[in-house]
Amino acid sequence: MNTSTTTTGNIILVGFMGSGKSSVAKEVSRVLGFQLADLDQLIKTKAGKSIPVIFSEGGEELFRKYEAEVLKEVAETQTDPLVIATGGGIVLKESNRELLKSLGFVTWLKASAEETFKRVGENSDRPLLNGDDPFTTINTLIAERSPLYQEVAHFEVDTNDLSVFEIACGIIDSASVHFAQNVNADLDGKAPIS
Ligand code: S3P
Repeated sequence: MNTSTTTTGNIILVGFMGSGKSSVAKEVSRVLGFQLADLDQLIKTKAGKSIPVIFSEGGEELFRKYEAEVLKEVAETQTDPLVIATGGGIVLKESNRELLKSLGFVTWLKASAEETFKRVGENSDRPLLNGDDPFTTINTLIAERSPLYQEVAHFEVDTNDLSVFEIACGIIDSASVHFAQNVNADLDGKAPIS
């Protein structure tokens, strides 16, 4: 679990494909009035191509290059706090994990392999799941990546039985507590209350 304190007020969503990052990020941004940065959308704009086309032309390696670049660009150019939706594999690179940890409050959206398969198992937009046995791939990738999601996350939500709105409200509550604690830690011993 990420126990680091953060001074930037972004809310970042990580988690496996189909865990609801984009829909929940939209809802959090709507409720808080924060701008949304959806990294998969930004990758498509930067490349001028769909994600399956990026994978078919340059493989996963090219996609990961775009992904790391877009994350850095968002971090370097942001002015106001953002809600950031990431792609499921963003945590694979250590440099991305370090950057995510420094960027704000990170929530890990979790879903079971069965639920994930129902949501995205037969969806051709996810090149990594296009093999013969997507259910096994989902299980394997979830097992490999879970420790990485856990490493960056301040907060985890099991999404199986919750609505997008319920998940968004839980994140907003936890983020407020997190940011308030950080402000208090920053002020501790420095700002006398008068
Ligand atoms: C990927 C997840 C996808 C997309 C790409 C790779 C992954 O995003 O970034 O297909 O490695 O898990 P979603 O998590 O939004 O589906």
